[in-house]
Amino acid sequence: MEIVIASTPEDAARIVADRFEQAIAAAGEKGITLGLATGSSPVATYQELIRRHQAGGLSFAHARAFLLDEYVGLPRAHEQSYYRFIRDQFTAHVDIDDAGVLSPNGEAADPVAAAAAYDAAIGEAGGVDLQILGIGSNGHIGFNEPTSSLSSRTRVKTLTRRTVEDNARFFDTVDQVPVHVITQGLGTIGEARRIVLIATGEGKADAVAAMVEGALSAFCPASSLQLHPAVTVVLDEAAASKLE
Ligand code: F6R
Repeated sequence: MEIVIASTPEDAARIVADRFEQAIAAAGEKGITLGLATGSSPVATYQELIRRHQAGGLSFAHARAFLLDEYVGLPRAHEQSYYRFIRDQFTAHVDIDDAGVLSPNGEAADPVAAAAAYDAAIGEAGGVDLQILGIGSNGHIGFNEPTSSLSSRTRVKTLTRRTVEDNARFFDTVDQVPVHVITQGLGTIGEARRIVLIATGEGKADAVAAMVEGALSAFCPASSLQLHPAVTVVLDEAAASKLE
């Protein structure tokens, strides 16, 4: 794992945006498949990418994207659906073709089948070239909660109480947070050719230390990234504060 410690969250976002820009430039007209996370961690990166796009230097015209996860049962139009979140926070503000921004279908009558179909669609598209990740305070990536199989595929999961409470800040009450999600599995995420994880703030420090310096264990799903040959972890000083 490559560990980059930035002085501020803003610097961390710029460093991640640099990785995106380099990968997009290297892919050229052949195009790139991006893996996009939601949640608060990548928002500053998305804002920086939007800024660079609007300044004229960065185009997503040859990019497509797969989201990591989606709530089950939340309509796509709901402002907290990840379908809507990624459009509001990122893709509607750049020149990516919206039809190429795909997410698990949390409204499907059969979410189990929808999850399997999504996993297959990623493979059929040739896989993800560059995946951005955040990390949950309990070490989850995507919504692979502790004890998730290290080789899991895209599937339906139940959120832990801690994750529901962490995400309640985006809803009016904790009861409104869906408890079921469709998430790419740890095996699916691990097939991305390059991964950049961003974590900022002291609340992520324990999870970051477990991911980077702890044992490879399903109790810390992010530790599965130790097996990946091309992972960069971009931290601010607070998130890095519990590293040895
Ligand atoms: C979001 C996702 C989650 C978040 C994690 C951190 O698509 O897959 O793993 O990255 O819950 O959330 P924030 O960034 O809100 O602290």
